[in-house]
Amino acid sequence: MSSVASADTGRAIAEWDDGDRQLHLTNGRLSYIVRVLENGMLGQVHAGGALATGRSYRHVVPRPFDGFDNRVGESIALEVPTPGSGDFRVPGLVVEQADGSTVIDLRYRAHRIVPGKPAPVAEPGLVPLPATYVEDEGEATTVEIDLVDEHSGVEVTSSYTVFRDVDAVARRLRIRNGGAAPVRLTTAMSASLDLPDAEWSFIHLHGAWGRERHVVSTPLRTGRHAVSSARGSGGHQDNPFVALVGPATTEEAGEAYGFSLVYSGNFLAEVEVDAHDTTRVRLGIAPETFAWTLEPGAAFDTPEAIIAWSGSGLGALSDTYHRLYRERLARGRWRDRPRPVLINNWEGTYFDFDEERILAIASVARDVGVELFVLDDGWFGQRDTDTSSLGDWFVDLRKLPNGVDGLARKVEALGLRFGLWIEPEMISERSRLYDEHPDWAIGVPGRHRTQSRTQLVLDLSRPEIVDHLFSVLSDVLRDAPISYIKWDYNRFITEPFSLALPAARQGEFFHRYTLGLYDLYSRLTGAFPDILFESCASGGGRFDPGLLAFAPQAWTSDDTDAVERLRIQWGTSLAYPISSIAAHVSAVPNHQVGRVTSLATRAAVAFFGVFGYELDATSLSAADRAEVAAQIAFYVDHRDVLQYGRFVRLRSPFEGDGNETAWMSVGPDARRAVVGYYQVLARPVQGPERLRLRGLDPAARYRVSAWPTVDDRITNANLGVRGGDELMTVGLLFDHDRDETPGRGDFWARLFILEAE
Ligand code: DGJ
Repeated sequence: MSSVASADTGRAIAEWDDGDRQLHLTNGRLSYIVRVLENGMLGQVHAGGALATGRSYRHVVPRPFDGFDNRVGESIALEVPTPGSGDFRVPGLVVEQADGSTVIDLRYRAHRIVPGKPAPVAEPGLVPLPATYVEDEGEATTVEIDLVDEHSGVEVTSSYTVFRDVDAVARRLRIRNGGAAPVRLTTAMSASLDLPDAEWSFIHLHGAWGRERHVVSTPLRTGRHAVSSARGSGGHQDNPFVALVGPATTEEAGEAYGFSLVYSGNFLAEVEVDAHDTTRVRLGIAPETFAWTLEPGAAFDTPEAIIAWSGSGLGALSDTYHRLYRERLARGRWRDRPRPVLINNWEGTYFDFDEERILAIASVARDVGVELFVLDDGWFGQRDTDTSSLGDWFVDLRKLPNGVDGLARKVEALGLRFGLWIEPEMISERSRLYDEHPDWAIGVPGRHRTQSRTQLVLDLSRPEIVDHLFSVLSDVLRDAPISYIKWDYNRFITEPFSLALPAARQGEFFHRYTLGLYDLYSRLTGAFPDILFESCASGGGRFDPGLLAFAPQAWTSDDTDAVERLRIQWGTSLAYPISSIAAHVSAVPNHQVGRVTSLATRAAVAFFGVFGYELDATSLSAADRAEVAAQIAFYVDHRDVLQYGRFVRLRSPFEGDGNETAWMSVGPDARRAVVGYYQVLARPVQGPERLRLRGLDPAARYRVSAWPTVDDRITNANLGVRGGDELMTVGLLFDHDRDETPGRGDFWARLFILEAE
């Protein structure tokens, strides 16, 4: 090879070969290789398992050019595919130029190898997008490749970061108008990737309110298959994460690609399988609700796409996202700290509370070991129902005569921290804010504005509205000892339009809204760095990596039923770390589905998340209070492992009849682990079965205990000292037919705690 320049920062290597003009990014476990083609375009060579450095992969052509003349060159697997080129698949970038054409030829001009990962820089007047980061330069290497279309002057910088410790590549584009006339972006994907085959299944996280992020797996067929959103965020329905898995891929084995967008607005994740059985994946801002004008000299930055790869199953793919998002996307003082056990009054009181009732709940909660009390919706304006007051962020003295401050101090005097619910982005028509600023609500003048939960959305694309919210919310946060904020968002955006944007720029509205949201989050989290922020959107309607950069945890779903939560938490764990998944025990009959499960089962599910309660503690019987106290003591004992351990999925609620689920969290060096095993419906004549564990030290000997402490044969059979090898090879054994637990019945759960001797 001729003249190889590489920046080898530990194991995050970027190797540039001047002769072949080949860039090879690798960390020794994965490789991402691109090459400048003969015609100057940037072609893809390989993304997947690690290949040796110091070699040319020129002969690898993932998608040869197949017809037409060679404006495109020897391959049509391009890093930045554009339309009208002889490659008729979905494009990654569409730029409308002054003459109305969209043909564009992006040719290599220069590249830079940069140690570490530079933070995104925003254009004047815009805010930087959230992104993964490094804490020292050795953790990653970044390469920026400049491409230019000489005809229009459009310049594209395609950035790649390879991480030393996780098997992922971060990609984004910066598109700059270096020409003399304005241009308009109508598609600006963060990443496109061509795979030379099509034997994949497309996994995405689908749902609705109350059943978010269920795992859906669809074998690819010829044609296009996409998930996207047009509602202003991913919504409960779709999530900006998809995976491609091979036909034999399981949790433990086989190839898997993950595509995750660090973004909270409208997204598109699309796969196209063409007539030659090759697969193109593209991920980015949804083009259908996007257009962006670039004046000469202006630039547009796409959100960051995180492409992860695993050669050892879906479990390892999740490990990558968990570690990267927990340690290098989430930030701030709460990133690594034990998250408090909280109680939230929403399901306990709804809007019907006053200071006395809240203090009564807080007082019982304190007695059983809760660490944080969260006052939910209804404390402000005149909000006795959900029909008024959003936007009026001043206390309702009828309910709280001593103000939020007075209540918070009393809660603190009990020995609890105090947290508060807000929904900053919203406005009720019945509010003082609306009386003063009816034009701040999103809508098209002269047209009907669709209400949802009797509320409208504030136009966060307007900086003066973001300024106002920052000012009033800062007052709320400054005036009381507030340790935690739950930031809710209870409807999606309809009639998208901003009074502040000219007609030609209305296509920018959704992205500008998202930037306004990030601006507000970043200013509030920056001004109040000690507050733990939790994001929420009518349950889990905006659970995405963009918000994790500001709020390290999120309310996972309004559905707190233990059985429903098995699927919701399992699905969420595909892409998101357990330290981000808030999970609460609520009352029975469950408020969402009416199911009655035991207190123990509810806790056994919620333990595998950021744990808390969502009920009126004063209505718990003495026996229940004692049980809750024991639950909290258990969780606090194992919180390090449950919140920050390695989460291993063992048995899927989405496979077979879904009657069983099992998972485990494993602490550092596999010295301690907690296993959760759940059976939804009891069955006759079930026979014995085994649950093989994973992630343990085969050479260690583990003392196995059970939670709750019970004395039944099925549990007792597993207690004692067991080798890690035995637990992984033979497994825990459940002889269901011999279980004599009185009234065991449906919705059965057991936890096993493994402690290395
Ligand atoms: C939706 C949230 O998901 C609930 O937890 C609760 O905060 C309500 N909003 C309050 O309106």
